[in-house]
Amino acid sequence: MHISDILNDNRVGLEVETRGWVYRSRESGKLIFMVVRDSTGIVQVVIEKGVVSPEEFSMAKKATIESSVEIEGRCFKEQKAVTGYEIHATKIKIYQIAENFPITKDKSDEFLLDIRHLWLRSREMTAVLKMRETVLDSIRGFMKERGYHEVQPPMFVGGMVEGGSTLFEVPYFGEKAYLTQSSQFYLEAFMYSLENVYTISPSFRAEKSRTRRHVTEFTHYEAEAAWIGNQQMMDLEEEMVLFIIHNLLETNREELDIVKRDVTKLKAVEKPFYRYTYEKVIEIGREKGLQLSDAADLGEKEERTITEDFDKPIFVYNFPTQLKPFYHRPDPDDPTHVLNHDLLAPEGYGEVIGGGERTWKKDELIGRMKEENLNPEDYQWYVDLRSFGSVPHSGFGLGVDRLLTWLTGLDHINKVIPFPRTMRRLKP
Ligand code: 4AD
Ligand code: MG
Repeated sequence: MHISDILNDNRVGLEVETRGWVYRSRESGKLIFMVVRDSTGIVQVVIEKGVVSPEEFSMAKKATIESSVEIEGRCFKEQKAVTGYEIHATKIKIYQIAENFPITKDKSDEFLLDIRHLWLRSREMTAVLKMRETVLDSIRGFMKERGYHEVQPPMFVGGMVEGGSTLFEVPYFGEKAYLTQSSQFYLEAFMYSLENVYTISPSFRAEKSRTRRHVTEFTHYEAEAAWIGNQQMMDLEEEMVLFIIHNLLETNREELDIVKRDVTKLKAVEKPFYRYTYEKVIEIGREKGLQLSDAADLGEKEERTITEDFDKPIFVYNFPTQLKPFYHRPDPDDPTHVLNHDLLAPEGYGEVIGGGERTWKKDELIGRMKEENLNPEDYQWYVDLRSFGSVPHSGFGLGVDRLLTWLTGLDHINKVIPFPRTMRRLKP
């Protein structure tokens, strides 16, 4: 049975069996105190000479950290044991004595990345993996409840969405293909069929920036909805983020503790989130001492300063048109700004969502492309979508890994991705 099933008053006095890996072990005369872990937790096992066979006892003595073991014994309540219970072993089987495990205390972040294939089994990473799962489950549950359909766009694509500088090119049978930067254009195509759609798929960016929030491959949760405007899309995102936080607090208290998250900060997040125009946020930045021009692009550093002492996420809406790609719809009342938004996470984390209304009229779309010196023919099928019953619509993209970095309170996106990919890291 799993360790989490053993850590229970109802098991006290009963025979239990479990298996897993040696978390740590120490010997004291006739006794071996072995802490065993599995996917659900850790438990102390006491192995006494004379209770188990002499062969079993001598094998148990040799069991190094991460050796694989199977144990039978009786369960006791024990305050001094690490998780409050203890198994007194009557039988122990060692599957493999592990070689010298390279991870000891005080290893650098860089080293832990080098051996991520082994670090994955740490309590921290195991906790992160469980929280990732909760976030993904929550997204799916929320979207289903709201009537959104999950779809699967392609990852090999023929064009760019978010600008040429971060495009990964791959050879494709004598032609050039790219790894998708965002599934947005495909979601817009799906929208004319299913109306409300979303996907959770990888996106790729040839990011040279070495910040705590950029990777070259990330998990992108993107949605697109017909007949919805910019402010309504923000309403949906607000509900969705709150739903995720609620589920995480409900499901993963233990994991949040393991990563030392101050949960009072998560509990304090409530409706409504702040909603500020782009100009207002520039003003806030200036008040906090940042030197910002009127149409400054906000990067990691600026957003960190701006959001540092906020308690709730901040929507920044209606950016200057010149800062944003052609697909954002210019505000009909003020074409110098687009009907878009970013969602900035508090506590210094910054942007987790980018979204807004789409340029849905064909002529306007072509006009915006020309203004940005793009050739509409390169976007033939995307423009074609505007020829057959185009409708107002909005969407967004949320970086799942960035959201998790904030929710877990960790200091780097690398810590929430099982096998992070950056400019300098392709292994393990
Ligand atoms: O702001 P971005 O570039 O927007 C888009 O891609 C839109 N086409 C999305 C849409 O409307 N469907 O990216 C969206 C989000 C960002 O807010 C960020 O959370 C995440 O994707 N993101 C990254 N996460 C990790 N590493 C990177 N290099 C990222 N680039 C973007
Ligand atoms: Mg963005």
